[in-house]
Amino acid sequence: MRANKAVFFMHKDRPVARLPIGAVPGKWPGLRACLMLMLGASILCATALGAPAPKGKSADTQAKVAASSDFVGGETCATCHDEIGKKFADNPHTKMALMHGSNGVTCENCHGAGKAHVDGGGDTTKIFNPAKAPAKEVDAKCLSCHAGAHPDFDRSPHAKANVSCVSCHSVHASKAEGLLKASQPGLCFQCHSDVKASVSMPFHHPVNEGVVKCSDCHDVHGTFGENNLKSAADQSRICTKCHTDVRGPFVYEHAPVKAEGCLACHSPHGSQNARMLNMPSINTLCNQCHSRVANATVHGMAAGSDELAPCTSCHTFIHGSNINAAFLR
Ligand code: HEC
Ligand code: HEC
Ligand code: HEC
Ligand code: HEC
Ligand code: HEC
Ligand code: HEC
Ligand code: HEC
Ligand code: HEC
Ligand code: HEC
Ligand code: HEC
Repeated sequence: MRANKAVFFMHKDRPVARLPIGAVPGKWPGLRACLMLMLGASILCATALGAPAPKGKSADTQAKVAASSDFVGGETCATCHDEIGKKFADNPHTKMALMHGSNGVTCENCHGAGKAHVDGGGDTTKIFNPAKAPAKEVDAKCLSCHAGAHPDFDRSPHAKANVSCVSCHSVHASKAEGLLKASQPGLCFQCHSDVKASVSMPFHHPVNEGVVKCSDCHDVHGTFGENNLKSAADQSRICTKCHTDVRGPFVYEHAPVKAEGCLACHSPHGSQNARMLNMPSINTLCNQCHSRVANATVHGMAAGSDELAPCTSCHTFIHGSNINAAFLR
């Protein structure tokens, strides 16, 4: 009883489900929200962490709280915004309404308390519109629930460049899965035209063809690695997830595959050169590191041997071999 009262008091001016916004600047917003609410409203932790719907429970509290607040509930919003209200039934965010017993707090989870807006007959200065708000405010609002899945967004190159959640996602007018404004790669090309040029080169990852996605290698919501790359610990693992045959381990490793990684020899998006190599000539590529050896007598050629056949015509297993130390077999 006591606990319930305390919760009611803390949140008497807003619906419970909206709470976590105050916790956003912290490092663990979800956790902070949980601590604040430990006194009984466990449903909130689940919301804050983007976890699946908890069962029943607070519908009662919810109704009382919403009624005594500046929140009018989604059904009221829908009386004027009926088009948006109707479409919202299919929105993934409708799950929130369901998990809170259909009390209709969903609209105001993102738009803030709506009473003043309604009383003003739709006064646009009295309602939070993510489409017009500064990037940081939008991100904070969305991350109040999504920080659990995207904890690194604030330090991502996108966030730093004020590319916000609503630069890529649209809640009401999305044209693709995952509430995206457009599907990949078109979405990304709107801003990254240089990459569009790369994946259109003669030898490229089949991104335009829809076989490989930008998000197979990148997490645009931020990572610990540079370039928003997934899997910071060992960059090659991004690649060997698909290219299992070059993964190894081999009895005879070719040192740079492990040390420098795939990008020592390949371009990730596309290239003018076969096999997406960094250099037009395989021999030039190899001779960056092997010039002395390559020209030595072992190959039966004099120094400066331009006529030497492509190195990989003999050193076929260039990523490593279990049989031959010179990768001939
Ligand atoms: C009495 C009718 C009415 C109700 C109820 C109402 N609105 Fe509005 N709303 C309007 C009008 C009118 C506008 C301005 C014209 C437009 O953009 O459609 C508007 C605009 C908006 C905008 C855009 C603001 C901008 O900056 O352009 C948002 C967001 C919004 N409403 C959200 C809500 C939410 C959320 C609720 C429920 C809490 C709600 N409205 C309830 C009438 C209403
Ligand atoms: C998950 C967050 C979220 C929820 C929940 C949400 N909205 Fe929105 N709303 C947005 C965002 C983001 C925008 C900016 C345009 C966009 O992204 O589609 C927006 C824009 C709007 C606008 C302005 C439309 C325009 O074209 O400029 C209105 C009106 C609106 N919302 C009403 C509602 C109503 C009514 C509900 C409940 C049925 C609701 N919103 C629920 C995030 C939300
Ligand atoms: C009050 C909490 C809350 C807020 C605020 C919120 N979301 Fe969500 N969001 C959810 C929940 C709950 C789901 C459904 C999760 C699921 O499907 O497991 C969801 C789902 C999503 C999805 C996944 C859609 C899919 O098809 O899988 C996207 C994208 C998304 N939200 C973006 C946003 C953006 C952008 C904002 C800010 C404008 C925002 N959310 C604000 C709770 C929230
Ligand atoms: C640069 C574009 C971009 C930005 C900015 C962006 N997203 Fe996304 N988002 C995507 C793409 C692409 C996907 C689908 C592929 C993936 O999961 O990476 C996605 C997927 C999601 C999903 C569903 C799948 C998942 O991983 O949980 C959620 C939820 C989501 N984004 C929320 C957000 C929120 C919240 C923000 C702002 C803090 C945001 N996004 C910013 C592009 C973006
Ligand atoms: C609204 C414009 C916009 C959209 C859409 C967008 N980006 Fe970005 N992206 C930027 C900006 C601005 C930066 C930071 C400046 C820079 O490094 O170019 C950035 C940075 C990046 C980086 C890091 C670059 C670096 O130097 O560290 C990657 C990777 C990236 N974006 C991938 C994507 C992918 C993948 C998508 C599509 C899912 C996407 N972006 C959609 C604008 C956008
Ligand atoms: C096969 C994996 C892979 C795919 C698919 C991929 N990238 Fe990349 N991307 C990388 C790697 C690896 C780097 C780092 C390059 C470097 O360090 O020189 C990178 C770098 C970038 C950069 C920053 C440097 C630059 O080249 O501008 C951007 C922006 C970028 N990628 C965007 C995209 C976009 C947009 C898509 C989809 C059209 C995409 N990437 C698809 C692996 C990939
Ligand atoms: C999501 C799976 C996937 C990931 C991740 C991936 N690739 Fe690929 N890669 C492919 C596909 C599919 C092809 C096209 C194969 C074909 O056309 O036969 C390809 C082609 C290539 C080729 C050209 C092969 C040829 O026969 O011409 C090279 C080289 C390559 N990838 C290197 C890389 C590197 C380096 C990375 C990491 C930065 C990487 N790949 C990440 C799927 C992937
Ligand atoms: C020391 C340079 C070098 C490094 C490092 C390297 N490759 Fe290669 N790779 C090559 C060369 C050269 C070819 C072309 C072989 C040929 O033409 O026969 C090639 C070919 C490929 C191919 C085409 C199919 C095949 O197996 O021949 C794929 C896929 C590939 N590399 C993926 C990778 C991945 C993934 C990595 C990182 C784990 C990587 N490479 C690291 C030099 C390298
Ligand atoms: C980024 C530098 C780098 C590039 C590029 C490179 N290698 Fe290597 N390679 C090495 C290093 C380092 C070793 C290990 C040398 C050692 O153990 O003494 C090595 C070892 C080898 C070996 C085995 C040598 C031995 O002593 O057993 C062969 C054969 C070889 N490389 C061929 C090639 C060929 C062919 C290419 C071009 C497709 C190539 N390398 C590109 C750095 C490179
Ligand atoms: C005509 C076939 C052929 C070509 C072409 C070739 N090699 Fe070799 N390479 C060999 C043979 C055979 C060996 C000796 C292997 C052994 O000792 O077991 C060798 C050995 C090596 C070694 C190890 C040398 C050592 O000290 O043991 C390196 C490094 C090497 N090659 C690099 C290259 C590079 C770089 C190129 C291209 C510029 C190249 N090779 C072109 C056949 C070739």
